[in-house]
Amino acid sequence: METVICKADSHNKEREEELIRHAGEVLRQGGLVAFPTETVYGLGADALKSEAAQKIYAAKGRPSDNPLIVHIADWEAVFKIAEVVPQKAQQLADAFWPGPLTMILPKTKAVPYETTGGLDTVAIRMPSHTLARSIIREAGGYVAAPSANTSGRPSPTIAEHVIEDMNGRIDMIVDGGSVGIGLESTIIDLSGTVPVILRPGAITMEMLSEVIGTVELDKGLMDTDSDARPKAPGMKYRHYAPKAQLIVVEGNEAAVAARIRELVEDYAEEKIGIICTREHARQYPHGIVKVAGAWEKEEDIARNLYKILREFDQLGVECIYSESFDTPRMGQAIMNRLLKAAGQNKIIV
Ligand code: TXA
Ligand code: MG
Repeated sequence: METVICKADSHNKEREEELIRHAGEVLRQGGLVAFPTETVYGLGADALKSEAAQKIYAAKGRPSDNPLIVHIADWEAVFKIAEVVPQKAQQLADAFWPGPLTMILPKTKAVPYETTGGLDTVAIRMPSHTLARSIIREAGGYVAAPSANTSGRPSPTIAEHVIEDMNGRIDMIVDGGSVGIGLESTIIDLSGTVPVILRPGAITMEMLSEVIGTVELDKGLMDTDSDARPKAPGMKYRHYAPKAQLIVVEGNEAAVAARIRELVEDYAEEKIGIICTREHARQYPHGIVKVAGAWEKEEDIARNLYKILREFDQLGVECIYSESFDTPRMGQAIMNRLLKAAGQNKIIV
């Protein structure tokens, strides 16, 4: 299949409108279109057509029990796909939509099981990226969109990542440049009695509980020693993973740097990768050093993480040691993705 790659140009209104019309048309006909959102690039298909949703699983090589998020552009769209819309959903939408928050609600019959991986609930998100919302509206209002990577690989944060994984496998790629956030949306399950965070993201637990009170964190998420399984099917797979072995080193700053220096000594210069903060970059004289961002600018660390993992793939390193980034707000989301990418492999110093 030939993949049409279109660059979005917000300065040229006519071309942008043409691109939106084209993308909407492909989606309405049951095709696959990758497009930027504020979190990561999504791989879109009409969420209400089972054959269209099925194509997503094939293109990504995604297990069919892993449900998709339905992206909408207007609040009213919720009522067609959610059977029950609790007051808390309305409150969260008022506070955080459009934006990087996904809500899980009981689904209506309008949503085919192919979209929800057989579940009776549906994940819904209204992205803040205006081009994304325009494409969703043009496509009829309901676009299923997982991250536009091959299953298991780091999510795409620039169009080149999507091209790397999806060229020849989908109908169209909309290149909207670099995304803003770089980590996938926060997922909150509102289908039970107590709201539960199934995936941490830019909307933090504190921000959520300020609006709706008590919020729990899915036990299967962080606690790797317990028997608890993550409630979001997608969180149980090894994910976001680079080809190299990745190990996270955690602990006191000076001790982490000293341990990483020691660990990398045995490797040839070009076979070893290090991920660190800007402040620490000069502490590593050996190996390929990639700066995620300054400690004070955790947004940069979040935005750069997946790009760095992919860059190390291209360089063909054997092993990557990463500092840990337990920053004040984004830290929970960053560490969740980093440790998953590492298969929970960490050294505590
Ligand atoms: O930021 C994002 O959310 C991006 C952009 C493209 O919007 N999308 C994204 O989709 O991250 P995906 O498919 O890569 O991740 C969706 C996650 C998976 O872990 C899936 O298991 C979970 O959401 N999920 C979807 N529907 C669910 C449901 N009904 N119950 C529990 N988990 C669900
Ligand atoms: Mg994904």
